[in-house]
Amino acid sequence: MSLLRIDGLTKEFGGLTAVDAVSFGVESGETRAVIGPNGAGKSTLINCVTGLLTPTAGVVEFDGDDITDAAPHETVQAGMSKSFQTASLFPSMTVAENVEMAALAAENGSFSLDFLRRRDRMEGVHEIVDRMLDAVDLGAEREIEARSLPYGDKRRLEIAVALASEPEMLFMDEPTAGMSPDETADTVDLVEDLQRDLGLTILIVEHDMEVIFRIADRILVLNRGGVIADGPPEAVQGDPDVQEAYLGGVEL
Ligand SMILES: Nc1ncnc2c1ncn2[C@@H]1O[C@H](COP(=O)(O)OP(=O)(O)OP(=O)(O)O)[C@@H](O)[C@H]1O
Ligand SMILES: [Mg+2]
Repeated sequence: MSLLRIDGLTKEFGGLTAVDAVSFGVESGETRAVIGPNGAGKSTLINCVTGLLTPTAGVVEFDGDDITDAAPHETVQAGMSKSFQTASLFPSMTVAENVEMAALAAENGSFSLDFLRRRDRMEGVHEIVDRMLDAVDLGAEREIEARSLPYGDKRRLEIAVALASEPEMLFMDEPTAGMSPDETADTVDLVEDLQRDLGLTILIVEHDMEVIFRIADRILVLNRGGVIADGPPEAVQGDPDVQEAYLGGVEL
């Protein structure tokens, strides 16, 4: 049984169908890429699945539970997490404090002082902070203010923040956007490590085809909201519909 099952997912904005009857499954432990030209509906798809948007039609099932209409905090409780942009970091807090806040919020639903006083729970939180900073290789930077980190480290901290809820499945929307080639290479290594070391299931939207073909087990290709291909990298690469969708754009 697929960990994530999406059936007929549709999202309309007024007269525009941004996601059009999309169906696919993601197996546990898989790294699944979603690609497609600008405006294809990739971000809208992720936002519908993680609860930021409510789908117009269709079903989303996670671990066998129907979560189609779940709110964002409910999808986190179900075991999903989305890595947000740098705006979600607290710039004047340290690296470790940023992850700690996220771990506390995930455990408690929302932040409360009373909760902070419970020492046994705090020990659990500290263990999560250590483990996730280690996972993204920011252990040595733990006492540095988030705002002082280089860009690539900030993006890795966002991933640690997303991991603080100990998700089964991590969603990433263009994690290498704006990164230098070195930072991109580090991020690709990181995604591979996360899948291997934490056993994470990953859904990644990414424009960099080199990145995609290196890390994806399967690739879903969207164009104008609809699925035009779904399969392993080799099959997708040679697909004539995919070639056409990218004509004049990215060369596969
Ligand atoms: N909140 C919204 N209201 C109205 N239209 C929207 C909204 N969000 C997205 N759209 C439209 O839906 C379509 C899909 O957008 P989406 O952002 O999902 O594409 P994308 O594949 O993520 O593109 P990109 O590669 O540029 O990030 C686009 O035509 C976009 O303009
Ligand atoms: Mg997008």
